[in-house]
Amino acid sequence: MHKRTIVVIPGDGIGRVVLDETLRVLETAGFQADYVETDIGWEYWCDEGNPLPQRTLDLIREHKVALFGAITSKPKEEAAKELAPELRNQGLVYSSPIVGLRQHFKLDICIRPCRTYKGNPLNFVRRGPENRIEEPEIDVVIFRQNTEGLYGGVEWSDPPDKVYEALLSHPKFVRNFSDVPKSELSVSTRIFTRKATERILRAAFKYAETHHYPSVTLCEKPNVIRETSGMMYRLAKEIQKAEFRNIELWNTNIDAQMMWLTKNPEEYGVIVAGNMFGDIVSDGFAGLIGGLGFACSAQFNDEGVGIFEPTHGSAPKYADYPVSIVNPIAMIESACMMLDFVEENAIAQNIREAITTVVSEGKIQTYDMKKMKGTENVVEKGAASTTEMTNAIIQKL
Ligand code: NAI
Ligand code: MG
Repeated sequence: MHKRTIVVIPGDGIGRVVLDETLRVLETAGFQADYVETDIGWEYWCDEGNPLPQRTLDLIREHKVALFGAITSKPKEEAAKELAPELRNQGLVYSSPIVGLRQHFKLDICIRPCRTYKGNPLNFVRRGPENRIEEPEIDVVIFRQNTEGLYGGVEWSDPPDKVYEALLSHPKFVRNFSDVPKSELSVSTRIFTRKATERILRAAFKYAETHHYPSVTLCEKPNVIRETSGMMYRLAKEIQKAEFRNIELWNTNIDAQMMWLTKNPEEYGVIVAGNMFGDIVSDGFAGLIGGLGFACSAQFNDEGVGIFEPTHGSAPKYADYPVSIVNPIAMIESACMMLDFVEENAIAQNIREAITTVVSEGKIQTYDMKKMKGTENVVEKGAASTTEMTNAIIQKL
């Protein structure tokens, strides 16, 4: 087996915990790799004035594949106060290093699978005919455009004159907003490019084709957001017609999709959306399969860089518990997506089966699976610790 180098970026809080546990799983599962650990997060903001040091970018550029835990972000003002004294008043401004990573490497494709684990007490249930309780099996994979749209960061409060003049050239702006003082305006743009839109659409169709999903659902709002969602819908129709005739294209609006999420989630397969709607719909589906302890994600660009991370953050309130209680499954599943990316599918499959078995047996459950509040004493009350859950998965390998 070819030995690779994987960049390991633990970050802050529970990111460090779940990433360490995941490396144990990878090791036992027989994944041959060298790991280089590198820096990101709050500590480097405070000590160096940069939460995303250049050395981290260099290592990712060199080795291309990275496992990422989570980082802690705080508002600008709070961040400024925590800077090392010698770094203050130099005009350093904090910005989220994970958003920075996505933008730096143009990691425009984000994939978030949401699949039911049999026996997970957190699974969504609903009432069906004759009052029967139904537990629909969900098998949804969300493709989220990861770099543009409303999260692109092109925004102003009290916009500069040139921007204001440009806005005044739009008849609807004149009609609806020209009586508002400029100083009272906040503007966040929603920019979609044709290239990135085509890339996320093609990635979704390609995945549907390879994994035998009959349809791709575009989840936007083209009837109202006519230019950006409208372009995405038009391109989706063109791509489907020209390249993926065997796959149906469904079109839903984000608001209706959030309602159908609980009415008939089993009817959806591959879903594709812009940045913010993809974020929303993926959290929605993640909630149906167990929430943050289970939500994994992959993001990559067109140059072979892939970064794999749980959807959850650093959960600082749990970070310093003497015995860690958080669920490592989201991070371990994210590592499985990495294994697929480097074409170690058999190892990924093996780990996924181990997780499925542990969850369905129901003997080892972290506090979230027991629907407990995350206090320090949950392990005494019968919840599995992070390490116990990892050990149970390792034992099944
Ligand atoms: P969070 O995801 O860190 O935690 C929210 C809650 O979800 C936790 O209090 C806990 O109850 C639960 N939770 C999270 N991970 C879990 C796990 N593995 N097992 C069981 N339960 C789990 O989000 P929050 O509290 O909004 O943010 C905390 C920090 O994380 C902030 O500084 C935020 O900016 C950052 N963050 C970073 C992200 C990233 O690194 N990609 C993503 C989201 C938030
Ligand atoms: Mg989110």
